[in-house]
Amino acid sequence: MKFNHELIEKNIGLMALLVVLTVSVGGLVEIVPLYFQKSTTEPVAGLKPYTALQLAGRDIYLREGCYNCHSQMIRPFRAETERYGHYSVAGEFVYDHPFQWGSKRTGPDLHRVGGRYSDEWHRIHFNNPRDVVPESNMPAYPWLAKSNVTPSDMPPRMRALRIVGVPYSDAEIAGAEKEVAGKTELDALIAYIQVLGASIKSRGAPAKAAGTAAPVNTAAAQPTAR
Ligand code: HEC
Repeated sequence: MKFNHELIEKNIGLMALLVVLTVSVGGLVEIVPLYFQKSTTEPVAGLKPYTALQLAGRDIYLREGCYNCHSQMIRPFRAETERYGHYSVAGEFVYDHPFQWGSKRTGPDLHRVGGRYSDEWHRIHFNNPRDVVPESNMPAYPWLAKSNVTPSDMPPRMRALRIVGVPYSDAEIAGAEKEVAGKTELDALIAYIQVLGASIKSRGAPAKAAGTAAPVNTAAAQPTAR
């Protein structure tokens, strides 16, 4: 039979079927290999699961919708690596369920913000960003300092994460309630922020990350204020 494109264009059912087929094959070819590639499935050297306190902070990050204004994904472009540090690699996110890459940057990317400021800076900033960055339009989160983390929330969360592959030990889960007892939500959020991107610290020195492509030249990067 002679190939007849007109037939496809005039038959919506056949057209839909062929579109689905084409997209499925394309999707399989692109997506399936990622499940088997070391660089996307293995943690980078030095990556640790979040501690109970950091995990509680991460939950607050989600609850408050910080991802609406902040990404955690540094793209491998010079403008980004000079500003933020080493670009993000897949192996840094293997314990993030779900990852917080985000898609909107009203504020700066936060993937390498860990360690850039003191805890005290964050305390002031979260209470009222204008106190440290006068032109900031980030909302204030004064209630975080006034409410405590609920310790009994943590072990079930860690057990759930263990099911999807985060290697928490029984001892870590057993000690979780004690670790967060008496801590405020602000303590937890800061603990989380301070560990972001810390497994690849490359303001200057390129990282040794499993499966990382040749590092971009970040040697000239100046650690700027923001
Ligand atoms: C309406 C948008 C918006 C929301 C929501 C928001 N931020 Fe921001 N954030 C900004 C802007 C703009 C800046 C830059 C000015 C400043 O430092 O305050 C910023 C700066 C920051 C910085 C300093 C980053 C740096 O490299 O200097 C941190 C840390 C931060 N935000 C964390 C958070 C967290 C955590 C939350 C959620 C509790 C949050 N932000 C919610 C807009 C936002």
